[in-house]
Amino acid sequence: MTTLRTPDDVKVAIIGGSGKLGRSLARKLLEAGHSIVIGSRSRETAAAAAHSLAEALHLGDSSTPQIASDANEGACQSADIVILAIPEASYADLLPPLREACRDKIVLSTAVPFPLSASPTSAGEKAQELLPEAHVVAGLHTVSHAVLESASPLDEDAILTADDPRDAESLESLLQSIPGLRVVYGGPLQYARITESLTHLLIRMNRTYHAATGIRITGIPSSTS
Ligand SMILES: NC(=O)c1ccc[n+]([C@@H]2O[C@H](COP(=O)([O-])OP(=O)(O)OC[C@H]3O[C@@H](n4cnc5c(N)ncnc54)[C@H](OP(=O)(O)O)[C@@H]3O)[C@@H](O)[C@H]2O)c1
Repeated sequence: MTTLRTPDDVKVAIIGGSGKLGRSLARKLLEAGHSIVIGSRSRETAAAAAHSLAEALHLGDSSTPQIASDANEGACQSADIVILAIPEASYADLLPPLREACRDKIVLSTAVPFPLSASPTSAGEKAQELLPEAHVVAGLHTVSHAVLESASPLDEDAILTADDPRDAESLESLLQSIPGLRVVYGGPLQYARITESLTHLLIRMNRTYHAATGIRITGIPSSTS
């Protein structure tokens, strides 16, 4: 039986919550007490993913935190924060219909363009271009779903980039509610070109060392991290 912590007011939509990263993030955030709405291109897929998570965490209908499901647009509409856990290649198709529903909301782009030199820009910048009224933050690229599922607490940093540092800051308490995950601000969204590409380095190292690697930045005074 999983122990769930005190619920929080923030409702988080996870677009692609049926996938590997989306599901493992949803699980960690539910365990930390946040309410989640799983988004999918298909309402049925979203409902099945939410049902399976509710079962795994023994969540009843009246439990808090709560898990809900909807098609992507409805999920964004009903949430305060939107996490994009979908492939970068799908951004051009999937994001324009979400533009209105994401207006004025914090949107976290987790996508890493594949292969390494696939794009001259970053997925984070692409998300901002497609969702101009949203506050896009890019991050979590180096946090693997396998580690989210297997490690507790984690031993990793999540480097967030955003044009307005306050947007990254507003994700701090949500993400740091995952035990062992520290948020570090990495600069404007343009720097997502670097943070996204770090994932390719880690995937290579995982093969070399048969490991599940992550990133820790040293030297940041604890009072400012
Ligand atoms: N996996 C990781 O450890 C990890 C770590 C850091 C970052 N990321 C990033 O997170 C994103 C999701 O990765 P993932 O490993 O979770 O992928 P995944 O398991 O393949 O899941 C992706 C989800 O995205 C949705 N989707 C929307 N358009 C799609 C399309 N054209 N093709 C395939 N799926 C589509 C699907 O949901 P519906 O069918 O329900 O719409 C699917 O469940 C990627 O951008 C990846 O770079 C992943």
